[in-house]
Amino acid sequence: MKKLNDIHAEASKYFVAGASAGQRYNAPLGQPLYISRANGSRFWDAEGNEFIDFHTGAGAALFGHNNPRIREAINQALELGFFMNFDTEHHTQLAKLLQHFFPSCERMRLLNTGSEATQAAIRLARTYSGRDKVLRFEGHFHGMHESIWFNHNMISNVDAYGEVETHPDSVGFPINAKDGVVNVIFNNVDAFEHALKKYKDKIACVILEPISYNCGCLEARGEYLRAVREICTRENTVLIFDEVVTGLRMRPGSAQKYYGVLPDVTVMAKAIGGGMSIAAFGGKKEIMEHLNPIGKTAVSGTYSGALMPVLASVACLTMASEQGFYDRLEDTGNKLYAGIDDLLAKHKIAAHVRGLGARFGIYFGVENPEDDFDFRKVAVAEDKGTYKKFVTECVKNGLWFHDTAGPVSPAHYGFTVAHTSHDIDDALGRLDSIFAKISR
Ligand SMILES: Cc1ncc(COP(=O)(O)O)c(C=O)c1O
Repeated sequence: MKKLNDIHAEASKYFVAGASAGQRYNAPLGQPLYISRANGSRFWDAEGNEFIDFHTGAGAALFGHNNPRIREAINQALELGFFMNFDTEHHTQLAKLLQHFFPSCERMRLLNTGSEATQAAIRLARTYSGRDKVLRFEGHFHGMHESIWFNHNMISNVDAYGEVETHPDSVGFPINAKDGVVNVIFNNVDAFEHALKKYKDKIACVILEPISYNCGCLEARGEYLRAVREICTRENTVLIFDEVVTGLRMRPGSAQKYYGVLPDVTVMAKAIGGGMSIAAFGGKKEIMEHLNPIGKTAVSGTYSGALMPVLASVACLTMASEQGFYDRLEDTGNKLYAGIDDLLAKHKIAAHVRGLGARFGIYFGVENPEDDFDFRKVAVAEDKGTYKKFVTECVKNGLWFHDTAGPVSPAHYGFTVAHTSHDIDDALGRLDSIFAKISR
């Protein structure tokens, strides 16, 4: 059996820092974790160590690793020839299922990743509105591209009206890219209204995560989301919900159903493929018909709607439609969240869990749960020192809480429908020792 350090040394000859993707790097380990296999709620690293997974493929693996029904779908695609660049009747079956979970999608288009889909949705909104700028919210994340990757993991200057100075999250962007973006603080109607007034007739679209798990678990207040909807309608601005993480995550399946607020365009990815690469965006017919071949906005790709992920996605959405699916997720979430909160109280660690559906953040150092609704308050209060000790001890104790936290927001974690009550008891037992250690 190869040692993790040896695999890292070999990988580093070919991949930058030995990682095939930047986010695979894990700060507590000082390198990526190289794994050998995964099943259900668990995976095994290359040295044979077992982990209970609370990262869950960054949210994609909602149905558990190696899910037998997804495997069956993959096998069906293999039997059929796993072709790409053709449509089938399975594609239409998928679209019907997607529409059930994302009812605002009268028409849809398939892509491969969430980033591709947010980029295409923004392009479409620009065509439809004849306007140029994108209004986004501080802290929210919509993928790593030059139209939208700004102000995710940073605090920058804010003016008296709640407009935040725009800064890219990576270097290498075209110098003028930031001119296409307006950044506003979240959950504040006055700031939103002010920005729309200031940039009147310039905002092509407003994009948001209805629950920004990328900020830990930053929920939109219901009245806020309803106000945003009304104002976008009044100002003729396309409202885009990025449901890449929220999709399928909570009863009754998507944030737009949970809040009862329908966007004009929705972006979907991650859990809809259960680990296979598929994304989609959809929306009102009159907007979507600006796409080619009817309209002039071109969106396509070699692997868009490839058969294997399409069949996998049909399997995922079918499972999520079955009775008991959300009961199970809720039972697991209730047990896990209450269990962690009890242990934090037992060990007198100033922290709490905020979870909605099958994804959650742990807010170390944030004493008042009302502050969770405010990105800036959390950024100031968060105790990064205790967080670092937590993720480091988890790795040593067979719990994988991937170190996704940047310099500002809490990390986000999740579980799958394959996590059993026994898994949660096992994890809570380990957390008891971990919290005892870090509270010393
Ligand atoms: C809310 C949100 N939107 C978009 C994306 C980009 O998706 P992908 O990583 O599939 O490109 C992510 C990825 O984490 C996300 O969390």
